[in-house]
Amino acid sequence: MEISFIKNRKEGQRVISHPSRGVMRKATAIIKSGGVVAFPTETVYGLGADAFNPIAVARIFEVKNRPLFDPLIVHIANLSQMGDLASAVDRRAGRLAGRFWPGPLTLVLPKREGVPGIVTAGLDTVAIRMPDHLIALDLIKRSGCPIAAPSANRFGYISPTKAAHVLEQLGDRVDMIIDGGDCSVGVESTIVKLTEERSVILRPGGVPVEEIEALIGHVEMGAASAAGPEAPGQLPVHYSPSIPVHLADRGRDIDFSRSDAGFLLFRRPDREFPVDRTEILSTEGDLKEAAANLFSALHRLDKMGIRLIVAEAVPESGLGIAIMDRLRKAARKEAQGEEYSE
Ligand code: TXA
Ligand code: MG
Repeated sequence: MEISFIKNRKEGQRVISHPSRGVMRKATAIIKSGGVVAFPTETVYGLGADAFNPIAVARIFEVKNRPLFDPLIVHIANLSQMGDLASAVDRRAGRLAGRFWPGPLTLVLPKREGVPGIVTAGLDTVAIRMPDHLIALDLIKRSGCPIAAPSANRFGYISPTKAAHVLEQLGDRVDMIIDGGDCSVGVESTIVKLTEERSVILRPGGVPVEEIEALIGHVEMGAASAAGPEAPGQLPVHYSPSIPVHLADRGRDIDFSRSDAGFLLFRRPDREFPVDRTEILSTEGDLKEAAANLFSALHRLDKMGIRLIVAEAVPESGLGIAIMDRLRKAARKEAQGEEYSE
């Protein structure tokens, strides 16, 4: 396997592709000594630190510019680590973990006392996920600790699905970036809260809600705007490019003649469109492919020198629910001002 070190101009910082054992050892040493490492998962890149080292975790918040009231997901590599984090794992949690882990699902469970308050923003619950990516699992195993990690973007900005996205946003602030190529799922994990009798989806994501219901019965959709103690991280504005996003309900309503706009289309339109200012998420309209391309397409449009992104709505089922959640939050920034992003 080839290793490539890409030197950033800022000293000492590097992206590492196809990590060898030696590289993974270095990343592990950084985690063990309280540093932060950006690493790939199947959903998006994460910005990780030892979940049981509160000072290391504090650095994550600092690097991202993330408010301390927004708790982090703790990543594990095997089921026994759940016991170090959660004080109770009920039948629903067991079934979901058994079916979807490793994978794009996060479970919110009652936390054990030993989990640092900075990880959970002082809540009595903890969010846990086992990612489906060899580099992520290897890093957690070698480090010997669960790894707390938010998405590796500046707070409020578009999530990273390539190492280059992390390098652009946080390159001069992190100790290391491990390049694992493109994220295969491309949207963040589905978050299910299981601390009460009712099961609540706090964020739609890589595991379709329908598949969760098929396993544990009815789930409620948590209010996306509930930025209260129930779901402190479910901020209404998020995933935002630096330019405004308009959401068009139907592709055929989009006015391609606007020369200051770029277009984010679900599928290839059957009329002429400005090819150089258009991103097509999936030529044939496949939701899985669309999810995998979403954030990269937004990153490219954001850098195109246009003034506005017009996005086509996608069907709201399966992964389409997660995609629409991200598009609505990106679009809401325009309506509400920029208070949640930078
Ligand atoms: O796919 C993912 O989930 C990615 C990768 C890196 O694993 N991570 C990710 O993390 O998206 P982040 O920090 O960008 O989003 C985590 C969300 C936040 O909205 C946060 O508020 C919520 O999870 N969260 C974390 N702990 C929680 C808790 N105890 N109760 C409710 N929400 C929680
Ligand atoms: Mg995030």
